[in-house]
Amino acid sequence: MQNTEQTLASVLDEDGANAELLSLIHNLVDATEEIAVCVNKGALAGVLGSTQNENVQGETQKKLDIIANQLIKDALLSNEQVRALASEEEDDVVAGNKNGKYVVAFDPLDGSSNIDVNGQIGTIFTIYPARNDVATNSALQFQQRGTQQVCAGYVLYGASTLLVISTGGPTHCFTLDTASQQFLLTNPTLSIPQDTQEFSVNMANQRFWASSFQSYIADLIAGETGKRNKRFNMRWNASMVGDMHRVLIRGGIFIYPSDSRDAKQPAKLRLLYEANPIAMLVENAGGKAFNESQRILDIEPSALHQRVAVIMGSANEVEACLGYLQ
Ligand code: AHG
Ligand code: MN
Ligand code: MN
Ligand code: MN
Repeated sequence: MQNTEQTLASVLDEDGANAELLSLIHNLVDATEEIAVCVNKGALAGVLGSTQNENVQGETQKKLDIIANQLIKDALLSNEQVRALASEEEDDVVAGNKNGKYVVAFDPLDGSSNIDVNGQIGTIFTIYPARNDVATNSALQFQQRGTQQVCAGYVLYGASTLLVISTGGPTHCFTLDTASQQFLLTNPTLSIPQDTQEFSVNMANQRFWASSFQSYIADLIAGETGKRNKRFNMRWNASMVGDMHRVLIRGGIFIYPSDSRDAKQPAKLRLLYEANPIAMLVENAGGKAFNESQRILDIEPSALHQRVAVIMGSANEVEACLGYLQ
């Protein structure tokens, strides 16, 4: 059967992406196709299990965290448009070509706890224009608001391998055609329904939440007997990419609120390579993405691995949640 779907390059070209940006995205996406092969082979390729190392956030690194990080890093450093890169698995900024136009940040493997159980995992990435007023390897390269992103995306290694991406226009979804090893357009314009009856949150953290957030979740669980007068279902994948893909396809609200587990770390997800790129994809699909007080894309970053609370998805449900937190 002949594929008639559009390729990634032709779609992003129509969206106005320039040749330099396209070449960078091409290299980045090639690396994710290599990761998809490793994920698919799993134990046969010896990629399951943990290492002895910890990343800068104190998480034990899985073998696949390291493999995915290296594949993406090598691909990016081979592209002359990459001035610098940042990753969940790199303590500091890695310098690229001092004349490169862009800086790239990524979460090489999202949902690491799902690797060994054949669950949903992903890669998240974001591209910003490089800053000429700071050094090539300065963390300040990445201290730009999410509104400055020129491209955001994720690859979901699931039943199919999918690429969801926006360069400022619509949020598109591509499916990896394993025969031709290219991503082909399968949903040109993702659109998140404004209302939903599904929420994603790690309920095991309930006792650590603020009382206002506990009230919101209690009202969702109360269903048609509660204030919301509506029955809700709960879904939790332990992978932001997996949970947010569900939201982008069929609506929902995904929340990782701040909590009191660790006074030094009131939130879990990282602003640069988790919250900001997914927030851009959500907004360009008609949804909303906030922390507990402001739009995520407007946050002025202050540190490379900064963490942030996230409330994102169906616009009316995000508003409803924020209403409890005021
Ligand atoms: P990562 O595997 O890149 O460290 O990210 C894991 C994140 C996110 O993907 C997921 O939503 C969340 O952590 C899961 O948290 P819990 O351990 O609380 O389920
Ligand atoms: Mn991690
Ligand atoms: Mn992650
Ligand atoms: Mn990760």
